[in-house]
Amino acid sequence: MRLTRKVTAMALASCMVLSLAACGGSKPAETTAAPAAETTTAAPAAEATEPAKEEAETTAADVAATVEGKDPSEVKVGISIYQFADNFMTLYREELKKYLVEEIGVKEENISIMDGKNDQGEQMNQIRNFITQGYDVMIINLVQASSEPTVTEECHAAGIPVVYINREPEAEREQAWVDGGIKATYVGADARQSGTFQGEEIAELENKGDADGDGVVRYIMVQGDPENVDAQYRTEKSIEALTAAGVEVEELVKMRGDWDQTKGQEITANALSQHGAKIDVVFCNNDAMALGALQAIEAAGRKVNEDIYLVGVDALVEVVEHVMNGKMTGTVFNDYFGQAHTAADKAMDFVNGKDVDNVYMVDYVKVTPENAGEVLELIK
Ligand code: GAL
Repeated sequence: MRLTRKVTAMALASCMVLSLAACGGSKPAETTAAPAAETTTAAPAAEATEPAKEEAETTAADVAATVEGKDPSEVKVGISIYQFADNFMTLYREELKKYLVEEIGVKEENISIMDGKNDQGEQMNQIRNFITQGYDVMIINLVQASSEPTVTEECHAAGIPVVYINREPEAEREQAWVDGGIKATYVGADARQSGTFQGEEIAELENKGDADGDGVVRYIMVQGDPENVDAQYRTEKSIEALTAAGVEVEELVKMRGDWDQTKGQEITANALSQHGAKIDVVFCNNDAMALGALQAIEAAGRKVNEDIYLVGVDALVEVVEHVMNGKMTGTVFNDYFGQAHTAADKAMDFVNGKDVDNVYMVDYVKVTPENAGEVLELIK
């Protein structure tokens, strides 16, 4: 039986501290999600005296580690990121590598990080190369979540576990891994939560986002890649949270910006020239597009938090600074530390023959002027 694990931001902070100690050696096993039962298996009840028993436990654990586990310095980790030209995934992949090397003890030369170049065919080749070269485990940020069945099938046939990150496969597929005894898991964050937080940030303003005070909050929605659940849920849940707070809304524009700053700027500039002062709020599915939107807003002579509001997701350093100095209304911290660490820990658990659940979710955190300073300290 496997359950979805939720990794909260606070638990994460202590987990980070714990795992620094736990991962210094060869077994990153004692992290938060390890089932309690595992620690008791090596201690037969009828052991003689106390000191002798302690000794016996140590020995049994050591034996288990050599039989099941692998020295981290010998583990080969194959990683493919959907595309390197993505601000958020760049922070993520840098943290992932750092953690694998510095905290888990994987050798840098045993980590291969490939750029999927937003091309599923290219990424498939990279995965097949990892298989041919006998990698121990893969961490994959799919270009298209819909190609997960093929990737999983090929990795499973080759006996290589996979940790999917950032782009969530379908829930039925996650269940199919459990039913089929397949070594695959997903580590991510629940995009519904990030959308809800964005909507709440607007609803919590004194005028609930109604910049021109005409009784209706008119907005534009700058979407990521609409095939991606992150884009779908952020789009849907942000507005749902606003209407749940009793706000009347009207959508003026909804366009895909593919998580890209330039596209965010273009979409917002066009919307501003078409709808002008009618626009009360610019919702962006991520911060890169929100930075583009800010350029367009400033170029149009509008002022965030005075005659228009602007929110994103990710908590890029520049955006958090803008939230602090009032140039952006808010963002939502997409905890790439928690996600990267959990992904790396689970990859090692697979390699060491430990039980791994099928889904791990790391909490998002609202970022408003009240806590932006603290968040900045965490990420800078
Ligand atoms: C989202 C993130 C975006 C982008 C996307 C890629 O979680 O907010 O900025 O990186 O993942 O799939």
